[in-house]
Amino acid sequence: MPARLVIEGGVPLRGRVAVGAAKNATLPALAAALLTSEPVTLTNVPDLGDIRTMLRLLETHGAAVARDGRRVEVRVPRVANDEASYELVSTMRASVLVLGPLVARHGSARVALPGGCAIGVRPIDQHLKGLAKLGADIAIENGYVVARARRLRGARITTDLVTVTGTENLMMAAVLADGTTIIENAAREPEVADLAALLTSMGAKLDGVGTGHLEIQGVPALAGATHQVIADRIEAGTLITAGAITAGDVTVTDVAPEHLEAVLAKLDECGVDLDVGPAWVRVRGPARPGAADVTTSPFPGFPTDMQAQLMTLLGLADGQSRVTETIFENRFMHAAELVRLGARIETDGAIAVVRGVAAYQGAPVMASDLRASAALVLAGLAARGTTEVSRIYHLDRGYEHLEQKLAALGARIERTSR
Ligand code: EPZ
Repeated sequence: MPARLVIEGGVPLRGRVAVGAAKNATLPALAAALLTSEPVTLTNVPDLGDIRTMLRLLETHGAAVARDGRRVEVRVPRVANDEASYELVSTMRASVLVLGPLVARHGSARVALPGGCAIGVRPIDQHLKGLAKLGADIAIENGYVVARARRLRGARITTDLVTVTGTENLMMAAVLADGTTIIENAAREPEVADLAALLTSMGAKLDGVGTGHLEIQGVPALAGATHQVIADRIEAGTLITAGAITAGDVTVTDVAPEHLEAVLAKLDECGVDLDVGPAWVRVRGPARPGAADVTTSPFPGFPTDMQAQLMTLLGLADGQSRVTETIFENRFMHAAELVRLGARIETDGAIAVVRGVAAYQGAPVMASDLRASAALVLAGLAARGTTEVSRIYHLDRGYEHLEQKLAALGARIERTSR
């Protein structure tokens, strides 16, 4: 029987817990190592499924990877192979992040089209249009993107929508292009800014980081660097919500509260008691949260990666809430599982109406994607009785030892594989 998490709910969480480095900042930072022949070292890499996949992918491109605990050095003296196979890309869509660096450094790339995933079709048309603007010849051959460019040249790119990895791919292509690149409508997520910080320490010239208007002055070559990855704001938001939903008293440390403003504001609106320090957040949960409406949007708006976790809290609220998901077209799969626990949720396209109930009843539930699995764990922590969450391989892609962190706060949770 594959691994599951078994949770005895109803325990108010208490204590302190530290947040790890951001998965979605580590992945582009690792891909950036392709841009130079010198070593790029990340000092605090989390031990996650997706990170292991990215390191394996980089090795197929010719990278030498040296891991010492959380310290990871990636050195790509030369690109030995420009292909990112369907076998690897289909297990992790973020593999597409090697596309920009490979074309910029090596002049060519063959990257499998990622295909869809549980939460949506997730095309990469914006990545490809931007690379074409930078002078790459782009073709789609047998399910692969084939991109070639002797030398990329700076261009003005306006993406049709805000795309996080699209912005990251285009940044990594532009830093070695000949001339200046402008990216309008760029993503402003902290993970994009963290990649920009790494690229700058490698010798890249970027302006406008954190705004929707990026200016990148191409340079002939980049050097290596050592970089500490930012804290994972979504793990932080998930742990804070765990304190809130169990009416506990938890201090989450090693966070960047300025990356969590929209999440903290929404929890405050739900009656959650928050104290915010320079690098910590203390959360005391109310006996019962209040209802609140929420709409996901690109940073600095409410993050789509926290939508499932907030919906779980709203499912226990005293009143009715509306959840509007504007980023992905199919990101309500956790709703049907929450209904199995007694929630009252009706979804219609991008909108979910949540009528709060007094309590969840424990039951077996099934994870469908990374953040939905975290939401089901939160529901189990609050539910009366036992909740079993299956298909937790989704969880292991993006949360490092979540059950250990929760158990250290008093949760009755264990991983079983009987
Ligand atoms: C990143 O995905 C994150 N992944 C996602 O986190 C996150 O949910 C998402 O950004 C939104 O914040 C990583 O950073 C590795 P997008 P990404 O391109 O870059 C559409 C998690 O749980 N779109 O910003 O793939 C797309 O379909 C994951 O850790 C196009 O149409 O997301 C989506 O509807 C899940 N064409 C919207 O834009 C494109 O070329 C935003 O996607 C690109 C995107």
